[in-house]
Amino acid sequence: MKVGVIGLGQMGTGIAANLLRAGHEVTVYNRTPSKARPLVEKGAYAAAQVADACRGDVVVTMLADDAAVEGVAFGETGLIASLRKGAIHLSMSTISVALSERLTAAHANAGQRFVAAPVFGRPEAAAAARLFIVAAGAPDAVAACTPLFEAMGQRTFPIGDEPQAANLVKLSGNFLTASAIEALGEAMALVGKAGVDRRRYLDLLTSTLFTAPVYELYGRLIAEQRFEPPGFAAPLGHKDIRLTLAAAETLRVPMPFAAVLHDRFLTLLAHGGEALDWSAIGQLAAKDAGQGER
Ligand SMILES: NC(=O)c1ccc[n+]([C@@H]2O[C@H](COP(=O)([O-])OP(=O)(O)OC[C@H]3O[C@@H](n4cnc5c(N)ncnc54)[C@H](OP(=O)(O)O)[C@@H]3O)[C@@H](O)[C@H]2O)c1
Repeated sequence: MKVGVIGLGQMGTGIAANLLRAGHEVTVYNRTPSKARPLVEKGAYAAAQVADACRGDVVVTMLADDAAVEGVAFGETGLIASLRKGAIHLSMSTISVALSERLTAAHANAGQRFVAAPVFGRPEAAAAARLFIVAAGAPDAVAACTPLFEAMGQRTFPIGDEPQAANLVKLSGNFLTASAIEALGEAMALVGKAGVDRRRYLDLLTSTLFTAPVYELYGRLIAEQRFEPPGFAAPLGHKDIRLTLAAAETLRVPMPFAAVLHDRFLTLLAHGGEALDWSAIGQLAAKDAGQGER
């Protein structure tokens, strides 16, 4: 297929490389143009502006947040103004439910199709085409994206006809992951302060009742206090909890844990955690317990 990829950060770079590897014709655009170079060396075309990445069948966006997606989607030279009728905007960023609804309406008005397909999996999974993809949109549009999903992920979970449902599901997943990180951090602070070896403790957890990848991955990062370089940066984690709370507010769903997590991220960012992995909220409990400085 003829595909544009807009956003060549940690996730978009791996996705674009895998689309190329699968034989698709890929045109890439990034705000910071130098990030396109390695992909051009692999056979991608470089777009000088957003519109140049929107000439094909599908344009993928994999951008940081709502502001970034709004910035490329709307406006006279934006994605919506540039995409041909019937073409698909495949939105893979973790964005708000509200923006997903706005995009659905704007693309429908322009005679285009919109699929929301946010992902689970960190940059290593994106590079290895091992992402889990949560896809929602009109069935014909989701089906048309199948060859792309197959090139970038290990499994796709269709979630319904309404794109924003995929965004809500993704946010709920990150809320759960952040909850696990916070809980691990508190449990490790407790046993760690008493002198129990954190790695042995983690081995016990992940060999018995807590065998899920989320405990294994984040338990290791917390036990080893390995928060740099960030695979998923703290400001993006903060954004996801903010968006979870916004969706919860709209739906009138009280989520007391999410409010605590929001505060945890604020604490982390207020103490200079901008460049850390989001799992660094998992060391706040130890610091609150007097083990090391924030
Ligand atoms: N990393 C993960 O583990 C992970 C996992 C699942 C989902 N996600 C989601 O995937 C998305 C991308 O994450 P990432 O880790 O790839 O982030 P990243 O490495 O920080 O990359 C962010 C991308 O967005 C672009 N961008 C940021 N602000 C922009 C703006 N105002 N206008 C235009 N472009 C802008 C950046 O361009 P520049 O290069 O010019 O800065 C870059 O291409 C996010 O929504 C994130 O929540 C991430």
